[in-house]
Amino acid sequence: MSKHRPRLMIVIGTRPEAIKLAPVTLAAMHDGRFEPCVVRTSQHREMLDQMIEHFALPVAVDLDIMRHDQDLAQITTAALEGLYRTIAERRPACVVVQGDTTTTFCGALAAFYHRIPVAHVEAGLRTGDRFQPFPEEINRRLTGQVTDFHFAPTEGARSNLLREGVPASRIWVTGNTAIDALQITLARGAGLASPPGRRLLVTAHRRENHGAPMAAICDALLRLMERFDDLSVRFPVHLSPRVRSTVFERLRGHPRIALEEPLGYADFVRAMAESTLILSDSGGVQEEAPSLGKPVLVLRETTERPEAVEVGAAVLVGTDADRIVSEVSRLLEDAARYERMASAGNPFGDGTAGRRIVELLADELL
Ligand code: UD1
Ligand code: UDP
Repeated sequence: MSKHRPRLMIVIGTRPEAIKLAPVTLAAMHDGRFEPCVVRTSQHREMLDQMIEHFALPVAVDLDIMRHDQDLAQITTAALEGLYRTIAERRPACVVVQGDTTTTFCGALAAFYHRIPVAHVEAGLRTGDRFQPFPEEINRRLTGQVTDFHFAPTEGARSNLLREGVPASRIWVTGNTAIDALQITLARGAGLASPPGRRLLVTAHRRENHGAPMAAICDALLRLMERFDDLSVRFPVHLSPRVRSTVFERLRGHPRIALEEPLGYADFVRAMAESTLILSDSGGVQEEAPSLGKPVLVLRETTERPEAVEVGAAVLVGTDADRIVSEVSRLLEDAARYERMASAGNPFGDGTAGRRIVELLADELL
């Protein structure tokens, strides 16, 4: 292989970016026409290490920016400065970013400052509310402004971009790489077991859910434990101190609520597969659960993934404790309702998004 392959810089900062850019990285490595250059800002540390290890991603540069209880300006300044410098040193042909984190936006902006083309994976997701999710809705809109190649996961995401004036010729609907990552992991034998008993799997971390909404989620879980004595909870708790303080204070010590450290991806996929239903404010989990036939109750007021709600695989339940208790109870008590949600299917892709993105980039850039 020639030493002078054009470099594809793949920027990852947090857990979901590693999961969703792993299929693109692996596809680029397999394809061979680009030289992949994975740069981690390390906006996340341990939670990103888990994912990099799982997918064996070849990290070339680690900017090591994470600080305990960091604020948005700290992440933005450190990521932008580090990525700007790294792009200057490595001179990639294209910078690939994913999703809507602060790393995503800084990667796109730094590339734009160097006039290097930006590819945005999972482009076009919108809630239409600037503060939900916060700050992700603005990160994704700003990223869209400096993107050259918009890889939209669904037709709905494509329509959002067209409505904002992005030319149709710059948008490709590829499916979501989350489905590729899930399929890669299932193929390695993450397993679809079903032990006895009914289990809720819970994750929550959104900034707009810190504080009182997180406390209400915890209270709802305690009430559900009282109502259903065969029910148990697995709750891998995000490492954000804002999340952990509330969750541990409210739920520590309950005999049927297992508060766990963040799980590796294979373990988390297994936990989803073994659950009865999932409560989550996560973006990625809304995409994965329908593929695994698990109803997902979304702990948010809005979603940029309306497809799961439209097909009936997800319900937006918000963070009101009464509402969470009543929606979970309905699903646990009404087998037909449960079955309808569980069999709704996955509207997010077919597991070929990573390969398609690499092919499209090769067509456009080489
Ligand atoms: C970030 C993203 C969010 C994404 C989420 C995925 C932004 C603004 N937020 O939110 O879009 O959905 O990641 O999980 O980009 N921490 C650790 N170790 C880790 C990770 C986090 O200790 O491996 C702790 C640190 O104290 C850190 C804090 O969590 O300061 C918050 O991390 P941060 O990236 O700012 O926010 P998240 O809530 O993780
Ligand atoms: N996940 C994981 N271990 C966990 C919790 C989540 O591997 O303990 C995975 C999950 O399968 C999904 C992704 O992490 O792919 C979601 O990350 P997160 O909820 O942190 O971010 P979001 O998707 O909301 O941006």
